[in-house]
Amino acid sequence: MAKRINKSQREEVLDLLSQGHDRETIAARVGVTPAQVSAINAHVSMGTYELSLRDSSKEPIQQSRERVDAVLKEARNLDGVDATFDPVLIGTDAESEEPVYWNPDPASGSANPHVLVLGESGFGKTYAVSCLLTELAQRRIPSIVFDYSQGFSLDNSPQEFLQFGEPEELDAGRNGVNINPLQGYPFDLYGPVSVAQRVADTFKRVYSGIGIQQHAMLRQAVLDVLPESDAEGRQEAPPFLNLQHQLESYADDPGHPNRRLAANIASHISTVFVFNTFRSNGQDMQWGDMLRSDGRVFVVKLKGLEYSLEKAVTEFLLWNFIGYVESLGPGPLRCFVVMDEAHKLSFDNGSPAEKLLREGRKFGVGVVLASQQLDDFSSVAFSNTATKLVFQVGDDNSSVSRQLHRKIRNAHSFSDIYEVVTKLPRGWAYVVTENIGRVTRVESFEERAKRWKQ
Ligand SMILES: Nc1ncnc2c1ncn2[C@@H]1O[C@H](COP(=O)(O)OP(=O)(O)O)[C@@H](O)[C@H]1O
Ligand SMILES: [Mg+2]
Repeated sequence: MAKRINKSQREEVLDLLSQGHDRETIAARVGVTPAQVSAINAHVSMGTYELSLRDSSKEPIQQSRERVDAVLKEARNLDGVDATFDPVLIGTDAESEEPVYWNPDPASGSANPHVLVLGESGFGKTYAVSCLLTELAQRRIPSIVFDYSQGFSLDNSPQEFLQFGEPEELDAGRNGVNINPLQGYPFDLYGPVSVAQRVADTFKRVYSGIGIQQHAMLRQAVLDVLPESDAEGRQEAPPFLNLQHQLESYADDPGHPNRRLAANIASHISTVFVFNTFRSNGQDMQWGDMLRSDGRVFVVKLKGLEYSLEKAVTEFLLWNFIGYVESLGPGPLRCFVVMDEAHKLSFDNGSPAEKLLREGRKFGVGVVLASQQLDDFSSVAFSNTATKLVFQVGDDNSSVSRQLHRKIRNAHSFSDIYEVVTKLPRGWAYVVTENIGRVTRVESFEERAKRWKQ
């Protein structure tokens, strides 16, 4: 497969890049892989290569540099956008020894900034995600981690993560959250009806026992507790506890046609109220402060919540977050949202995770999803993540290898991929970026820290 690229090939690639050829054409002409062309391209935009490598007799260096920049800028559609965002190094290609990059900037023209991380326990998912978030922090991009498994617990995080990511823990599990699920958002086109639908849908996704009838009753109960909106369509959200009282009043009313159903649904969602998780003295979620933090990592700890409640809290937090970023309007890359152990989350149509994957890019939000099983992700999650890091997986029915193979344009066969992903050592991943798959050694924190200290 890919050999190391020599100096004259490198010069030829630079030349062809400056003439505006696409990377497939360049790769074919020079006899290198498209990935190697991309790597050089990335180096050029990072200013690593001295353009004096090129035959400077053809034109003055400054002029040629400008031409290269102009070509790359055009190719990456960076016009009008701050082009200083450096791609993030994931690690080293085991075959070519070329660096493997992730380009999280939606302005770079890559399909989307989202990342999917897959692999069995202990092979390096959380470690790799921590590295990427710390790299983002060096680029002043903050991130918000929803941590169900204490994978990001500061007690056992690498010291470099603490030093360079400056993580801050928000203990939603213990303190509850200062978020009201009955709140309306700018994207609630039908006012109270949209709010009621969201609350009922969320509970239905989270509590499998909720059927169609319970869903309808829940929606009605929310509508009954929500006040009429004022002339501008605004409405003050009533205390969340009112929802429980409403369901109880249906259940206690001898004349109510669906008394039993009301009692049943009230008991289904009672955990939320028993733990009083959504409360005004709970953990404050200052999304604005997080986004203005200049690149810190915020870890929302969900551990300690009852299983279904983790999901409910995450969904309502995500809705609240989406409401906030949408109020800011479309914009450049603002932050990343991370869901480690994403199997605890629904990606169904209409879920907040699905909305973020589909629309996050527009509002400058990238998503990182990590999980152990491919089945944990919907096809939405698989097809909306342009970058994938696959650590060792069992892949019994070879569905991972098959799906990856469909995504890549380079020469790895399906069985090559299967052989690789089922045997990868710890800290190694099969990385797919820009439709190219590479066996990659993920760079360690120690190696990264040397760069960050400079
Ligand atoms: N790229 C790497 N470089 C160095 N050590 C690593 C790397 N990836 C993983 N490790 C080590 O392996 C351990 C387990 O990795 P972790 O990311 O927690 O696995 P997972 O999240 O997949 O269960 C980490 O605590 C770390 O010590
Ligand atoms: Mg982990």
